[in-house]
Order: sequence, then C-alpha cells, then structure tokens
Amino acid sequence: MSFDFFAPCPRGLEAALASELAEIGARHLNGAPFAPGAQVPGGVHFRGGWTAGMAANLHSRIASRVLLKIAHRPYRAEQDIYALALEQRWEQWFSANETLRVDVTAIKSPLRSLEFATLRVKDAICDRLREKSGARPSIDTAEPDVRVFAFLTATDCTLYLDTSGDPLFKRGWRLDKGAAPLRENLAAGILRLTGWTAGTPLYDPMCGSGTFLAEAAQVALNIAPGVERRFGFERLKQYDANAWQTLKVAAVDAKRAARGSRADLQIFGSDISGDMLDKARANFERAGLNVPLKQVDARGMTPPVGTPGILVANPPYGERIEVRGRGPRGEVRETGRESREDEGFKRVHTDAPDSEFFKSFGDALKQRFTGWHAFVLTSDRKLPGQMRLRESTKTPLFNGALECRLFRFDLIAGSVRQRPAASVTNPGDTAEGQR
Ligand SMILES: C[S@@+](CC[C@H](N)C(=O)[O-])C[C@H]1O[C@@H](n2cnc3c(N)ncnc32)[C@H](O)[C@@H]1O
Repeated sequence: MSFDFFAPCPRGLEAALASELAEIGARHLNGAPFAPGAQVPGGVHFRGGWTAGMAANLHSRIASRVLLKIAHRPYRAEQDIYALALEQRWEQWFSANETLRVDVTAIKSPLRSLEFATLRVKDAICDRLREKSGARPSIDTAEPDVRVFAFLTATDCTLYLDTSGDPLFKRGWRLDKGAAPLRENLAAGILRLTGWTAGTPLYDPMCGSGTFLAEAAQVALNIAPGVERRFGFERLKQYDANAWQTLKVAAVDAKRAARGSRADLQIFGSDISGDMLDKARANFERAGLNVPLKQVDARGMTPPVGTPGILVANPPYGERIEVRGRGPRGEVRETGRESREDEGFKRVHTDAPDSEFFKSFGDALKQRFTGWHAFVLTSDRKLPGQMRLRESTKTPLFNGALECRLFRFDLIAGSVRQRPAASVTNPGDTAEGQR
C-alpha cells in the first residue's frame, strides 16, 4: 500500500531535502517503492509505503516532520473543512483514548479566522470518533499523542496526520542549547549545501553548543538522527511494526559500531566561551560523539589541520564575548573539563553588528585559511563588506522566521576576493558576476 507524504523543512532547504530523501530511499529502503515528488516552498512531497515514511522519520536530518496525507479537496467556508474532516476514517488511525492537537496553516486563505477553522477540524474529528466509539478524544496542545495538520490555500484544504510527534530537529539527546542555537535540521541542511563530505576537515570557530559539529559527526559515523528518539507513528493503530523493528535495529547496530570507532573525524570546533564549550561537550557526550574543542577567539583562529577544508559558522549578531584585557589575536587557553565558565571574559552587547570583529575575522580567513571554503550564516546582509571579502555565492535560508543568507567565501591562494571598505554601505543583493 502506498501513501502520499509531505516533509516540511526550513525554507531554502527544499532541494537539499529532496536529494537527502532520494538517498534515504536508495540506502535504506531495499527496493521498496519510494518516489520523491514535487518540491514546494517549505517542503517536499514523496510517495511510498509505511517503510518510506518511517525511514524518512528515522534518517532525515533536514525534514522538520513527516506528514501523511489523509484528504484533499477544494473548500470555500469552514463548513466545507468540517465536512471533509468528518468524512475521514480517523478511527482507523487512533482511538478516543489518545489526546489530540490540531494545527492549521494557510496561504492566501479567504477564511477570516484560522482559529475558528482549527476548532472546526478538531470538532469534526471528535464528532467522528464519538459517533464511531462513543467517546471524544481530549485536547492536549502541549504533549498530544496525535497531531493533525490542515493546510489551506486560497482554494484547497489538505488534511495531514503527523507521523513524527516531536519535530524531527529534536534528536533526543541535546540538553544544553546555549543562547542562540541553530536548529539541528537547519545545521544539517547547511552542511549539505556546503558540499562537505565525511573525511574532509570541518571547522566551526564559533561553535556554541556544537550543532554543526554534532550533525557532521553523526553523518561521518553513519548515526541515524532519530535513533535516540520515539516517533508519533508508534502511537498510531496502523503502522508496519515489523518493518519498523528492522529499520530501528539496523540504526541501533550502526550507532553501536560508531561508538566503538576510533576514527579521526577531522571535525573541529572552537568558541570564545568556556561556558558554551562545556555545553557542547555535555551534548557530545550524551550523543556518544568525540569532537575536539578549543577555547579560541575567532579573530586569532588558525586552521586545526594542515589540509584545507570547510569552515562553517553562524556568528553572533548584536552580542559577542571578549577576553578581558587581551588583544584581538590573543589565543585563549585550551579548556579542560574543569575549566571555569567565562572567567576572564566580558559580554559585550552591541546594537549594530561589530564591524571591527568581522574585519578581524575576515583578516584571519584571508591570512591563514588559504585553500579553505568558508560558509557563514547570518541575517546581516552587510557581513561580507564588514569582513572585506567578496562572497562567491549567497543562499537565502530561513532560521525560523528570520531571513538569513549563507555566504560562501572561497579562500583560494592569490585570488582571495577582497572588497574595499566603501562597499560596506551598499552590499545590495547583486549577483556576483555583475560586480
Ligand atoms: C549564534 S552563536 C552560535 C551557535 C551555534 N551554532 C550553536 O548551534 O549553538 C555564536 C557563538 O559565537 C561565539 N562567539 C562570540 N564572540 C566570539 C569570538 N570573538 N570568538 C569566538 N567565538 C565567539 C559565542 O560564544 C556563541 O557561542
């Protein structure tokens, strides 16, 4: 039996997710029918059996969820949406003992109140279950057993049953997030956009709680992102429990093999904050990962290995931390587990991005990272100007609601593309070839 699934993802990562899903199909579905479908803003459709949906949940690093399409029909008013939801055989999927949450999202819907539409979908599902079983499910918006999503366009309503439960960026092992962590699926998608592959050196000089590093280490060690967590489909009446056991056992075995591996992953991180590095270490330990970390001011950073690789970072915006009484080139001590957090550091709040910091960061790249490819995620479009570097590409990405750019800088010997300070004030969005 085949189903239509929709995997939402951070906007800007649709193509990356489509290629990841195709890879998952080829690697984990042993010839089971699986058809990647259309990419739409914010997600990718695909078609396949239960195994495909379960494998996407277990193995996708980029999807936010995997939704199972239940029904699709044109609508005009709330009553049409109620009728559509009432017709569906929800009793096949879950009972009134399960708690429920309904979410409605819409693009250009003519309806006046999405809240009311949400209530109508919820009423229809409850009415249906009461008619079939004599009981209505309770609503639990915080930790529901079952989630239903309705998606409205100007003309059509689609109902989805969620198969993920908690969103997939919750990998199940992260405790310490730090102040401004990246979502795991955005970090994983960015890694794919950089073209990084296992074995190539990877360095995050502002690693914070270590999201890029943890995602990369799991790719390198072939650890499934969902191996440590449970999924919404496990609560549904129908899913292929045998196929799930097979997928899960293979993922657990792969993780066990990875734990024993002493492979040098060539993945490195540093941050100016000992506190953040402690958080990163605690996370890596829980995830069973071993990634070397150093306490270093990014302005004084040096390549962690002799072979050039990929540098990736999302720098602070509006706040940074400085070493008390040290100049920009001052490398900070290497931290041990016992090191005290942020001793000797001061937090500097800046309303505007700090151009001196970014100039020094750009200088460090130009002077010491020849041959590397650097990728910087920021919501600040003036960043390349502040770094006095010309980007090779810039990719629009959304970090939640925040529109960002992933800037790529190719630090090729003798041809590092510098830009004069004057261009800082007018970075624009000009295509590189037109500069
Ligand atoms: C937006 S956060 C990065 C979050 C990280 N990607 C994560 O997922 O947790 C920016 C990081 O830059 C670090 N930072 C600030 N100033 C720095 C500096 N001068 N040198 C190195 N790291 C710095 C902060 O401590 C913070 O961890």
